[in-house]
Amino acid sequence: MRDTVFSGDEVRPVVIVGSGLAAVSALEGMREAGYSGPVVMVGEERQMPYDRPPLSKMVLSEIGAEDKIFLRDQSAYDALGATMLLGRSVIKIEAGNREVSLDDGTRLPYEKLLLATGSRPRILQGLSPSDPGVFYLRTLDDSIALRAALKDASSLVVIGGGVIGLEVAAVAVKAGVSTTVIEAGNRLMARAATPQLSALLEKVHRQNGVNVLCGASPTGFAFFNNLHAISMADGTVLEADLLVVGIGVVPETSLASAAGIECGPAGIVVDGMGATNVEHIYAAGEVAHHFNAGSGGHERQENWHHAAAHGKHVGMSMIAPTDAYREISGYWSDQYDLNVQVFGSVAGDKDVVRGDIEAKSFSVFHLLNETVIGVTAVNAPKELRTGKQLVRSKGQLSN
Ligand code: APR
Repeated sequence: MRDTVFSGDEVRPVVIVGSGLAAVSALEGMREAGYSGPVVMVGEERQMPYDRPPLSKMVLSEIGAEDKIFLRDQSAYDALGATMLLGRSVIKIEAGNREVSLDDGTRLPYEKLLLATGSRPRILQGLSPSDPGVFYLRTLDDSIALRAALKDASSLVVIGGGVIGLEVAAVAVKAGVSTTVIEAGNRLMARAATPQLSALLEKVHRQNGVNVLCGASPTGFAFFNNLHAISMADGTVLEADLLVVGIGVVPETSLASAAGIECGPAGIVVDGMGATNVEHIYAAGEVAHHFNAGSGGHERQENWHHAAAHGKHVGMSMIAPTDAYREISGYWSDQYDLNVQVFGSVAGDKDVVRGDIEAKSFSVFHLLNETVIGVTAVNAPKELRTGKQLVRSKGQLSN
Protein backbone atom coordinates (compact mmCIF):
# COMPACT_ATOMS: atom_id res chain seq x y z
CA MET A 1 0.00 0.00 0.00
CA ARG A 2 2.63 2.52 -0.90
CA ASP A 3 0.95 4.62 -3.53
CA THR A 4 -2.30 5.48 -1.83
CA VAL A 5 -3.17 7.63 1.12
CA PHE A 6 -3.63 5.47 4.18
CA SER A 7 -6.91 4.90 5.98
CA GLY A 8 -7.27 4.15 9.67
CA ASP A 9 -7.52 0.37 9.19
CA GLU A 10 -4.11 -0.07 7.63
CA VAL A 11 -0.68 0.09 9.17
CA ARG A 12 -0.13 3.73 10.03
CA PRO A 13 2.75 5.25 8.11
CA VAL A 14 5.53 7.42 9.38
CA VAL A 15 4.64 10.86 8.03
CA ILE A 16 7.36 13.37 7.16
CA VAL A 17 6.26 16.99 6.79
CA GLY A 18 8.63 18.82 4.46
CA SER A 19 10.54 17.73 1.39
CA GLY A 20 13.93 19.34 1.83
CA LEU A 21 17.31 17.83 2.59
CA ALA A 22 16.50 17.06 6.24
CA ALA A 23 13.33 15.23 5.17
CA VAL A 24 15.10 13.10 2.55
CA SER A 25 18.01 12.35 4.89
CA ALA A 26 15.55 11.27 7.60
CA LEU A 27 13.78 8.94 5.19
CA GLU A 28 17.12 7.31 4.37
CA GLY A 29 18.02 7.17 8.07
CA MET A 30 14.80 5.32 8.88
CA ARG A 31 15.45 2.68 6.23
CA GLU A 32 19.06 2.36 7.31
CA ALA A 33 17.88 1.74 10.87
CA GLY A 34 15.79 -1.18 9.62
CA TYR A 35 12.30 0.28 9.33
CA SER A 36 10.39 -1.38 6.51
CA GLY A 37 6.89 0.02 7.07
CA PRO A 38 5.15 2.73 5.08
CA VAL A 39 6.44 6.31 4.86
CA VAL A 40 4.60 9.31 3.40
CA MET A 41 6.44 12.54 2.66
CA VAL A 42 4.25 15.64 2.30
CA GLY A 43 5.92 18.63 0.63
CA GLU A 44 4.43 22.05 -0.04
CA GLU A 45 6.60 22.61 -3.12
CA ARG A 46 5.53 20.73 -6.21
CA GLN A 47 9.05 19.78 -7.32
CA MET A 48 10.84 16.65 -6.21
CA PRO A 49 13.20 17.38 -3.29
CA TYR A 50 16.07 19.58 -4.44
CA ASP A 51 19.22 21.19 -3.13
CA ARG A 52 18.95 24.82 -2.02
CA PRO A 53 22.57 26.10 -2.12
CA PRO A 54 22.60 26.35 -5.96
CA LEU A 55 19.53 28.64 -5.91
CA SER A 56 21.63 31.71 -5.16
CA LYS A 57 24.52 30.54 -7.36
CA MET A 58 24.26 28.31 -10.43
CA VAL A 59 20.47 28.38 -10.91
CA LEU A 60 20.45 32.17 -10.79
CA SER A 61 22.97 32.48 -13.60
CA GLU A 62 22.38 29.46 -15.82
CA ILE A 63 19.18 28.50 -17.61
CA GLY A 64 18.62 24.76 -17.22
CA ALA A 65 20.73 24.44 -14.06
CA GLU A 66 17.52 23.69 -12.19
CA ASP A 67 17.43 20.27 -13.85
CA LYS A 68 20.66 19.31 -12.10
CA ILE A 69 19.77 20.09 -8.50
CA PHE A 70 17.43 17.27 -7.51
CA LEU A 71 18.62 15.41 -4.43
CA ARG A 72 17.65 11.93 -5.66
CA ASP A 73 15.87 10.62 -8.74
CA GLN A 74 12.45 8.97 -8.76
CA SER A 75 13.94 5.48 -8.71
CA ALA A 76 15.62 6.26 -5.38
CA TYR A 77 12.27 7.15 -3.78
CA ASP A 78 10.75 4.01 -5.31
CA ALA A 79 13.55 1.95 -3.80
CA LEU A 80 13.06 3.70 -0.47
CA GLY A 81 9.37 2.89 -0.63
CA ALA A 82 8.21 6.43 0.07
CA THR A 83 4.87 7.85 -1.04
CA MET A 84 5.59 11.41 -2.14
CA LEU A 85 2.70 13.84 -1.75
CA LEU A 86 4.12 16.96 -3.38
CA GLY A 87 2.42 20.32 -3.87
CA ARG A 88 0.37 19.50 -0.77
CA SER A 89 0.55 21.03 2.71
CA VAL A 90 -0.14 19.74 6.16
CA ILE A 91 -2.39 22.35 7.76
CA LYS A 92 -3.10 20.75 11.12
CA ILE A 93 -1.71 18.17 13.52
CA GLU A 94 -4.08 16.34 15.85
CA ALA A 95 -1.67 14.76 18.27
CA GLY A 96 -4.46 13.12 20.31
CA ASN A 97 -5.68 11.05 17.34
CA ARG A 98 -2.20 10.83 15.79
CA GLU A 99 -3.47 12.32 12.56
CA VAL A 100 -2.62 15.24 10.25
CA SER A 101 -4.93 17.13 7.87
CA LEU A 102 -3.82 18.23 4.44
CA ASP A 103 -4.89 21.33 2.52
CA ASP A 104 -7.00 19.21 0.16
CA GLY A 105 -9.04 17.80 3.06
CA THR A 106 -7.21 14.46 3.30
CA ARG A 107 -6.71 13.15 6.82
CA LEU A 108 -3.62 11.09 7.26
CA PRO A 109 -3.03 8.99 10.38
CA TYR A 110 0.56 8.54 11.51
CA GLU A 111 2.53 6.08 13.55
CA LYS A 112 5.23 8.70 14.07
CA LEU A 113 5.44 12.22 12.71
CA LEU A 114 8.58 14.08 11.66
CA LEU A 115 8.49 17.85 11.20
CA ALA A 116 11.17 18.97 8.75
CA THR A 117 9.54 22.26 7.83
CA GLY A 118 12.74 24.33 7.62
CA SER A 119 12.65 28.12 7.60
CA ARG A 120 10.93 30.95 5.82
CA PRO A 121 12.46 34.30 4.91
CA ARG A 122 12.16 37.16 7.38
CA ILE A 123 9.87 39.75 5.81
CA LEU A 124 11.05 43.34 5.55
CA GLN A 125 8.45 45.65 7.10
CA GLY A 126 7.40 48.65 5.04
CA LEU A 127 8.00 47.01 1.66
CA SER A 128 5.14 45.29 -0.09
CA PRO A 129 6.35 41.81 -1.12
CA SER A 130 3.81 41.77 -3.95
CA ASP A 131 5.17 44.90 -5.69
CA PRO A 132 6.70 44.06 -9.08
CA GLY A 133 10.44 43.64 -8.88
CA VAL A 134 10.53 42.64 -5.18
CA PHE A 135 12.16 39.27 -4.56
CA TYR A 136 12.90 36.97 -1.67
CA LEU A 137 14.99 33.89 -2.38
CA ARG A 138 14.12 30.60 -0.74
CA THR A 139 12.56 28.30 -3.32
CA LEU A 140 13.36 27.08 -6.81
CA ASP A 141 10.43 29.11 -8.14
CA ASP A 142 11.89 32.24 -6.45
CA SER A 143 15.27 31.62 -8.06
CA ILE A 144 13.91 31.07 -11.57
CA ALA A 145 11.71 34.17 -11.31
CA LEU A 146 14.65 36.28 -10.13
CA ARG A 147 16.87 34.92 -12.91
CA ALA A 148 14.31 36.02 -15.49
CA ALA A 149 13.97 39.46 -13.91
CA LEU A 150 17.74 39.98 -13.76
CA LYS A 151 17.96 39.38 -17.49
CA ASP A 152 16.02 42.56 -18.22
CA ALA A 153 17.16 44.65 -15.25
CA SER A 154 19.70 47.42 -15.28
CA SER A 155 19.84 48.09 -11.55
CA LEU A 156 19.41 46.10 -8.35
CA VAL A 157 19.37 46.94 -4.66
CA VAL A 158 19.98 44.04 -2.30
CA ILE A 159 18.79 44.53 1.25
CA GLY A 160 20.87 42.44 3.65
CA GLY A 161 24.56 41.71 3.23
CA GLY A 162 24.35 38.09 4.39
CA VAL A 163 24.95 34.86 2.51
CA ILE A 164 21.98 35.21 0.16
CA GLY A 165 22.42 38.93 -0.50
CA LEU A 166 26.11 38.63 -1.34
CA GLU A 167 25.72 35.60 -3.58
CA VAL A 168 22.92 37.34 -5.48
CA ALA A 169 25.01 40.52 -5.77
CA ALA A 170 27.96 38.56 -7.21
CA VAL A 171 25.78 36.95 -9.88
CA ALA A 172 23.98 40.20 -10.72
CA VAL A 173 27.03 42.40 -11.09
CA LYS A 174 28.74 39.76 -13.24
CA ALA A 175 25.67 39.86 -15.47
CA GLY A 176 26.12 43.61 -15.92
CA VAL A 177 23.43 44.77 -13.50
CA SER A 178 24.38 47.85 -11.49
CA THR A 179 24.21 46.53 -7.90
CA THR A 180 24.07 48.03 -4.41
CA VAL A 181 24.09 46.04 -1.16
CA ILE A 182 22.56 47.63 1.94
CA GLU A 183 23.71 46.00 5.17
CA ALA A 184 22.38 47.21 8.52
CA GLY A 185 25.33 45.86 10.51
CA ASN A 186 28.81 47.32 10.40
CA ARG A 187 30.26 44.43 8.41
CA LEU A 188 29.12 41.88 5.83
CA MET A 189 27.94 38.36 6.69
CA ALA A 190 28.49 39.03 10.38
CA ARG A 191 26.19 36.20 11.54
CA ALA A 192 28.56 33.51 10.37
CA ALA A 193 31.80 35.13 9.20
CA THR A 194 34.94 36.20 10.98
CA PRO A 195 35.93 39.91 10.63
CA GLN A 196 38.85 39.06 8.28
CA LEU A 197 36.43 37.34 5.93
CA SER A 198 33.91 40.19 6.11
CA ALA A 199 36.66 42.66 5.19
CA LEU A 200 37.83 40.57 2.24
CA LEU A 201 34.27 40.10 0.96
CA GLU A 202 33.65 43.84 1.12
CA LYS A 203 36.84 44.54 -0.79
CA VAL A 204 36.19 41.94 -3.48
CA HIS A 205 32.59 43.04 -3.99
CA ARG A 206 33.77 46.63 -4.39
CA GLN A 207 36.49 45.57 -6.83
CA ASN A 208 33.82 43.88 -8.89
CA GLY A 209 31.76 47.06 -8.96
CA VAL A 210 29.19 46.46 -6.22
CA ASN A 211 28.25 49.53 -4.21
CA VAL A 212 28.50 48.20 -0.63
CA LEU A 213 26.83 50.24 2.10
CA CYS A 214 27.39 48.96 5.65
CA GLY A 215 25.74 50.46 8.72
CA ALA A 216 22.95 51.53 6.38
CA SER A 217 19.21 51.01 6.71
CA PRO A 218 16.31 51.74 4.43
CA THR A 219 13.63 53.90 6.03
CA GLY A 220 11.02 53.99 3.29
CA PHE A 221 10.06 52.52 -0.06
CA ALA A 222 8.14 53.90 -3.01
CA PHE A 223 7.37 52.33 -6.38
CA PHE A 224 6.58 54.54 -9.35
CA ASN A 225 7.04 54.18 -13.12
CA ASN A 226 8.46 50.70 -12.66
CA LEU A 227 11.25 52.05 -10.48
CA HIS A 228 11.80 51.49 -6.76
CA ALA A 229 12.95 54.44 -4.67
CA ILE A 230 14.59 53.49 -1.39
CA SER A 231 14.96 56.25 1.19
CA MET A 232 17.92 55.76 3.45
CA ALA A 233 18.40 56.82 7.07
CA ASP A 234 21.10 59.33 6.01
CA GLY A 235 18.67 61.13 3.69
CA THR A 236 19.90 59.70 0.40
CA VAL A 237 17.54 57.97 -2.02
CA LEU A 238 18.56 54.94 -4.08
CA GLU A 239 16.74 53.87 -7.22
CA ALA A 240 16.54 50.38 -8.73
CA ASP A 241 14.52 48.19 -11.08
CA LEU A 242 14.75 45.26 -8.70
CA LEU A 243 14.91 44.74 -4.95
CA VAL A 244 16.14 41.52 -3.39
CA VAL A 245 15.56 41.08 0.33
CA GLY A 246 17.87 38.67 2.19
CA ILE A 247 17.58 39.67 5.83
CA GLY A 248 17.65 36.23 7.38
CA VAL A 249 15.23 33.40 8.02
CA VAL A 250 12.90 32.30 10.80
CA PRO A 251 12.10 28.68 11.67
CA GLU A 252 8.78 27.49 10.27
CA THR A 253 7.16 26.53 13.57
CA SER A 254 3.54 27.61 13.03
CA LEU A 255 2.15 24.11 12.48
CA ALA A 256 3.98 22.77 15.53
CA SER A 257 3.06 25.57 17.90
CA ALA A 258 -0.61 25.41 16.87
CA ALA A 259 -0.51 21.74 17.92
CA GLY A 260 0.86 22.59 21.37
CA ILE A 261 4.40 21.39 20.63
CA GLU A 262 7.02 23.32 22.59
CA CYS A 263 8.62 25.97 20.36
CA GLY A 264 10.70 29.08 20.91
CA PRO A 265 12.13 31.77 18.64
CA ALA A 266 14.95 29.36 17.73
CA GLY A 267 12.58 26.62 16.59
CA ILE A 268 10.86 23.44 17.75
CA VAL A 269 12.52 22.27 20.94
CA VAL A 270 13.82 18.70 20.64
CA ASP A 271 16.11 16.45 22.65
CA GLY A 272 19.26 14.71 21.41
CA MET A 273 17.09 12.19 19.50
CA GLY A 274 14.97 14.82 17.81
CA ALA A 275 11.93 14.08 20.00
CA THR A 276 9.58 16.96 20.82
CA ASN A 277 7.65 17.20 24.09
CA VAL A 278 4.68 15.48 22.37
CA GLU A 279 4.79 11.72 22.08
CA HIS A 280 5.45 10.29 18.59
CA ILE A 281 6.39 13.71 17.16
CA TYR A 282 9.95 14.62 16.13
CA ALA A 283 11.64 17.55 14.38
CA ALA A 284 14.82 17.70 12.32
CA GLY A 285 16.99 20.15 10.41
CA GLU A 286 16.80 23.91 10.38
CA VAL A 287 13.45 24.06 12.21
CA ALA A 288 14.76 22.13 15.20
CA HIS A 289 16.17 23.85 18.27
CA HIS A 290 18.03 20.69 19.05
CA PHE A 291 20.17 19.35 21.86
CA ASN A 292 23.75 18.78 20.76
CA ALA A 293 25.74 16.47 23.06
CA GLY A 294 29.02 17.96 21.75
CA SER A 295 28.26 21.48 22.93
CA GLY A 296 26.05 20.33 25.80
CA GLY A 297 23.30 22.79 24.93
CA HIS A 298 20.48 23.51 22.52
CA GLU A 299 21.26 25.12 19.16
CA ARG A 300 19.75 25.90 15.79
CA GLN A 301 21.90 25.52 12.69
CA GLU A 302 21.11 27.00 9.29
CA ASN A 303 23.24 25.03 6.89
CA TRP A 304 23.27 22.14 4.44
CA HIS A 305 25.58 19.90 6.48
CA HIS A 306 23.34 20.11 9.50
CA ALA A 307 20.18 19.37 7.52
CA ALA A 308 21.82 16.23 6.13
CA ALA A 309 23.35 15.01 9.39
CA HIS A 310 20.54 15.91 11.76
CA GLY A 311 17.87 14.63 9.37
CA LYS A 312 19.61 11.28 9.13
CA HIS A 313 20.23 11.06 12.87
CA VAL A 314 16.62 11.84 13.79
CA GLY A 315 15.33 9.42 11.14
CA MET A 316 17.45 6.67 12.67
CA SER A 317 16.58 7.50 16.26
CA MET A 318 12.85 7.42 15.44
CA ILE A 319 13.33 3.73 14.65
CA ALA A 320 16.10 2.42 16.89
CA PRO A 321 17.95 3.66 19.98
CA THR A 322 20.92 5.89 19.12
CA ASP A 323 23.36 8.11 20.97
CA ALA A 324 22.42 11.77 21.25
CA TYR A 325 23.23 14.00 18.26
CA ARG A 326 26.71 15.54 18.45
CA GLU A 327 27.68 16.63 14.92
CA ILE A 328 29.60 19.82 14.20
CA SER A 329 28.53 21.58 11.02
CA GLY A 330 29.62 24.36 8.71
CA TYR A 331 28.70 26.15 5.51
CA TRP A 332 30.18 27.29 2.24
CA SER A 333 29.68 30.21 -0.09
CA ASP A 334 30.90 30.92 -3.61
CA GLN A 335 31.37 34.54 -4.63
CA TYR A 336 33.47 35.49 -7.70
CA ASP A 337 36.73 33.54 -7.42
CA LEU A 338 36.32 32.97 -3.68
CA ASN A 339 35.34 29.58 -2.33
CA VAL A 340 34.58 30.18 1.33
CA GLN A 341 34.30 27.23 3.72
CA VAL A 342 33.54 27.60 7.41
CA PHE A 343 33.45 24.70 9.85
CA GLY A 344 32.58 24.86 13.55
CA SER A 345 32.22 28.11 15.44
CA VAL A 346 33.81 31.46 14.54
CA ALA A 347 33.06 32.86 18.01
CA GLY A 348 36.34 32.19 19.80
CA ASP A 349 38.58 34.51 21.82
CA LYS A 350 41.53 34.43 19.40
CA ASP A 351 41.97 34.13 15.61
CA VAL A 352 45.14 32.80 14.00
CA VAL A 353 45.52 33.62 10.29
CA ARG A 354 47.58 31.37 8.03
CA GLY A 355 48.24 32.10 4.36
CA ASP A 356 47.84 35.30 2.39
CA ILE A 357 44.61 37.26 2.66
CA GLU A 358 45.67 39.59 -0.20
CA ALA A 359 46.25 36.58 -2.46
CA LYS A 360 42.78 35.32 -1.53
CA SER A 361 44.11 32.03 -0.24
CA PHE A 362 44.14 31.80 3.52
CA SER A 363 42.63 30.21 6.58
CA VAL A 364 41.66 31.49 9.99
CA PHE A 365 41.72 29.14 12.96
CA HIS A 366 39.25 30.19 15.64
CA LEU A 367 40.46 29.40 19.16
CA LEU A 368 38.74 29.42 22.53
CA ASN A 369 41.12 29.01 25.48
CA GLU A 370 43.72 27.87 22.90
CA THR A 371 41.47 25.02 21.66
CA VAL A 372 40.49 25.11 17.99
CA ILE A 373 36.70 25.49 17.82
CA GLY A 374 36.35 26.52 14.18
CA VAL A 375 38.09 27.18 10.90
CA THR A 376 37.46 29.57 8.01
CA ALA A 377 39.17 28.57 4.77
CA VAL A 378 39.16 30.71 1.63
CA ASN A 379 40.46 28.88 -1.43
CA ALA A 380 42.38 26.67 1.01
CA PRO A 381 41.07 23.06 0.91
CA LYS A 382 44.08 21.55 2.66
CA GLU A 383 43.84 23.95 5.60
CA LEU A 384 40.14 23.20 5.77
CA ARG A 385 40.85 19.49 6.18
CA THR A 386 43.43 20.16 8.91
CA GLY A 387 41.07 22.59 10.61
CA LYS A 388 38.19 20.13 10.60
CA GLN A 389 40.35 17.47 12.24
CA LEU A 390 41.48 19.92 14.91
CA VAL A 391 37.91 21.07 15.60
CA ARG A 392 36.67 17.50 15.87
CA SER A 393 39.53 16.43 18.15
CA LYS A 394 39.39 19.68 20.20
CA GLY A 395 43.04 20.07 19.27
CA GLN A 396 45.48 22.92 19.61
CA LEU A 397 47.56 24.66 16.94
CA SER A 398 51.19 23.65 16.72
CA ASN A 399 53.61 26.48 15.94
N1 APR B 1 18.40 46.22 6.42
C1 APR B 1 19.63 45.81 5.98
N2 APR B 1 20.21 44.66 6.42
C2 APR B 1 19.53 43.90 7.28
C3 APR B 1 18.26 44.26 7.77
C4 APR B 1 17.69 45.48 7.30
N3 APR B 1 16.48 45.89 7.69
N4 APR B 1 17.86 43.28 8.64
C5 APR B 1 18.84 42.35 8.66
N5 APR B 1 19.85 42.71 7.85
C6 APR B 1 21.09 41.98 7.56
C7 APR B 1 21.72 41.27 8.76
O1 APR B 1 22.52 42.15 9.48
C8 APR B 1 22.51 40.15 8.09
O2 APR B 1 23.82 40.55 7.78
O3 APR B 1 20.77 40.90 6.68
C9 APR B 1 21.77 39.89 6.78
C10 APR B 1 21.11 38.52 6.74
O4 APR B 1 22.09 37.54 6.60
P1 APR B 1 21.89 35.99 6.92
O5 APR B 1 21.51 35.81 8.34
O6 APR B 1 23.08 35.28 6.38
O7 APR B 1 20.58 35.60 6.10
P2 APR B 1 20.34 35.42 4.53
O8 APR B 1 21.45 35.97 3.74
O9 APR B 1 18.97 35.92 4.30
O10 APR B 1 20.39 33.87 4.35
C11 APR B 1 19.29 33.09 4.77
O11 APR B 1 19.96 31.13 3.58
O12 APR B 1 21.95 30.45 2.62
C12 APR B 1 21.11 30.34 3.69
O13 APR B 1 22.45 29.68 5.48
C13 APR B 1 21.82 30.78 4.92
O14 APR B 1 20.23 30.31 6.55
C14 APR B 1 20.72 31.31 5.76
C15 APR B 1 19.60 31.65 4.83
